[in-house]
Amino acid sequence: MSSKVALVTGSSKGLGKVIAQKLAEAGVKVIINYSNNQSRAEAVVRDIQEHGGEAIAIQADITDKKDVEKLVTVSQETFQQPINILINNATGPQPELSLEEVTWEDYLDQLHFTVKAPLLLVKEVIQSMKENQWGRIINIGSEVVELGNSDFSNYVTAKSAVIGMTRSWANELGKHDITVNAVHPGFTPVERHGEVTEASADNYIKGLPLNRLGKPEDIAYMVRFLASDEAEFVTGQNINVNGGHTFGV
Ligand SMILES: NC(=O)c1ccc[n+]([C@@H]2O[C@H](COP(=O)([O-])OP(=O)(O)OC[C@H]3O[C@@H](n4cnc5c(N)ncnc54)[C@H](OP(=O)(O)O)[C@@H]3O)[C@@H](O)[C@H]2O)c1
Repeated sequence: MSSKVALVTGSSKGLGKVIAQKLAEAGVKVIINYSNNQSRAEAVVRDIQEHGGEAIAIQADITDKKDVEKLVTVSQETFQQPINILINNATGPQPELSLEEVTWEDYLDQLHFTVKAPLLLVKEVIQSMKENQWGRIINIGSEVVELGNSDFSNYVTAKSAVIGMTRSWANELGKHDITVNAVHPGFTPVERHGEVTEASADNYIKGLPLNRLGKPEDIAYMVRFLASDEAEFVTGQNINVNGGHTFGV
């Protein structure tokens, strides 16, 4: 995969960081995108470089068209080649709100990440993917679309859109050998979850066929496979990586 450039949105921490690290281990040049935390992003770049990989950090609010254009331009200038792999991963705050509390703006806040940002980005990268007859687009969804968690309709609704969007893009881009898939993680503790108590872990694991919490690596390995040449015949799929917590739409 050493001839490829991947953009992993929101990769200064959490799942995006580990996805970027695993792609870099396979030789992919990666863009560590972040919105606020420059030092974290630079630490991820250093870690990748110390392990023999190539990476750069680019600040960009991926919900903003001008920032997205800047991000793609800086990437092209740095690597002298276009982005071949787009991982739509970034997320903002995810407040849990009852129907009494939630507003349309709360829905829009989530849709900006799950629909607007992927759309802005895909429009910037598909031309070169089409010219090269090779591309990988991987959207990060969530198992919540199957669980339908209460008091979380802002997030559940926005993540649900990822399913249909992935299928529609897969149909449209397949003739150019561009695949589009979605990976739906289950609860996978990362920095923002702080310390997960044994009680809350046990509560989640109850009823899970595979008897443990997810690790960021579980998600990253699936993404890396979908980004590889080996996955060239897989498109339009929504794949749960959640220990069998749900079985798919
Ligand atoms: N972890 C889980 O349990 C879980 C479960 C199901 C689905 N998911 C999904 O997996 C993805 C990653 O989640 P996570 O838990 O790893 O998130 P996270 O730890 O909160 O990381 C979010 C990342 O997005 C960046 N970001 C925030 N706003 C941005 C913006 N406007 N533009 C660009 N980057 C921005 C952050 O950078 P800064 O720090 O610089 O702002 C950070 O790098 C999300 O799509 C989430 O919905 C996660």
